[in-house]
Amino acid sequence: MAKPRKFSKIVVEPPGPLAKKIIEWDEKYLMQSYVRWYPLVIAKGEGAVLEDVDGNRYIDFNSGLAVLNTGHTPEPVIKRIKEQLGRFLHYSLTDFYYELAPRYAEKLVNALNWSGSKVFFTNSGAESIEAGIKVSRGFFKGRRPYLISFLNSFHGRTMATLTLSASKTIHKKYFHPLLPGVLHVPYPYPYRCPFGSETPDECAENTIGYIEDVVFKKLVDPSEVAAFFIEPIQGEGGYVVPPKKFMVMLRRLTKEHGILLVADEVQSGMGRTGKILAIYNFDVKPDLVALAKGIASGLPLGALVGDSEFMSLPGGSHANTFGGNPVSLAAADATLDMLLGGLMENARVQGDYIKSRMLELMDELNIIGDVRGLGLMIGVEIVKDRETKEPAPKLVSWIINQCFKRGLLIIGGGETSLRLAPPLVINREQVDEALDILEGVLREAEKNMT
Ligand SMILES: Cc1ncc(COP(=O)(O)O)c(C=O)c1O
Repeated sequence: MAKPRKFSKIVVEPPGPLAKKIIEWDEKYLMQSYVRWYPLVIAKGEGAVLEDVDGNRYIDFNSGLAVLNTGHTPEPVIKRIKEQLGRFLHYSLTDFYYELAPRYAEKLVNALNWSGSKVFFTNSGAESIEAGIKVSRGFFKGRRPYLISFLNSFHGRTMATLTLSASKTIHKKYFHPLLPGVLHVPYPYPYRCPFGSETPDECAENTIGYIEDVVFKKLVDPSEVAAFFIEPIQGEGGYVVPPKKFMVMLRRLTKEHGILLVADEVQSGMGRTGKILAIYNFDVKPDLVALAKGIASGLPLGALVGDSEFMSLPGGSHANTFGGNPVSLAAADATLDMLLGGLMENARVQGDYIKSRMLELMDELNIIGDVRGLGLMIGVEIVKDRETKEPAPKLVSWIINQCFKRGLLIIGGGETSLRLAPPLVINREQVDEALDILEGVLREAEKNMT
């Protein structure tokens, strides 16, 4: 017999009447350039649970696109936001000073264990990456115009970050010409290694070999490359974890040629993988790191952090009006306290548990091709058949929609993966209830396949 639900509850099949009304309204007045996974219209949330406008309750394995690391409406963050609201709302770091900025920058640098680094505040992930492009090209005073990023990567939707991205052509269609001087190389995706390598280590070696033998010998001299941009775990690409050996080899290669290594930790950073930066799981230190999403519990804030040697753009060369907004900084300060105060540890514990349950299920179900991830950034690759590894995007979409109808919020990633990214405040009971729902749906999906 199914266990009674404690956290999720579907009282009316979604979209209910109120949700339908709001969706119609949205379609009338908003440009529909988004892709909504399912008709969820949120009313409120608490911790890892959210409620829609018709009173349905869901366990949230999305965290609002990996933003709500501290969960919905975290009290300590709200308290700090309210305090700041009574002081001042804005005063533009472009031209003036306020204490919150260096105070939080110092705290962030310490949390990253990165002495000698400096911070530049932005409003979003794309702006943090844009800052990374300008800082790295600027550091070389224009002498190294080239940037290299990876296939299947996602770095944002502004014209420059769009150029670095290479996950879906729809992101770029109609918008060319893009930024000149950007090259893409394959990402070492162990489950589907672009070089057909058998083991993760071989995949790492072949990818580095391609960069050395093809890119650096036939496409661009390494002395003209300013930076590599890499997601230490690909987000939109399907929560793909590269081999540790690859990150170590890439770091060695970039150092050898004096190229900067920029980690895009917009999705993977701020504790999501159980460490403050995902790249620390590989024992690699980047030169620059781009942050956003989880940094301020949902308020708009991003940051570029890097060694002060590189964070050296001259006065007047880069700035923005809202970056480092005081209310966002107050939220970020309280967010960091929560992450360091036990949430990163919880990400590790719950993440290991989710992975172990999914791996057990993989033993039984032929449609689960791969389970991977670190902390609470877990990818489950769905295939038509484990032998052939044939992608099953329609099945992924069915699974996601069925979970939604049963009280669990997940989304997809890459061509054929599920992304599991609950808030870091999630507890074992909530995880178990969510995984019971997911397991039921996956078992049904397997049955439908046969
Ligand atoms: C890895 C990564 N980089 C950059 C971005 C862009 O961030 P934003 O949407 O805040 O501009 C995203 C957004 O999903 C991301 O996942």
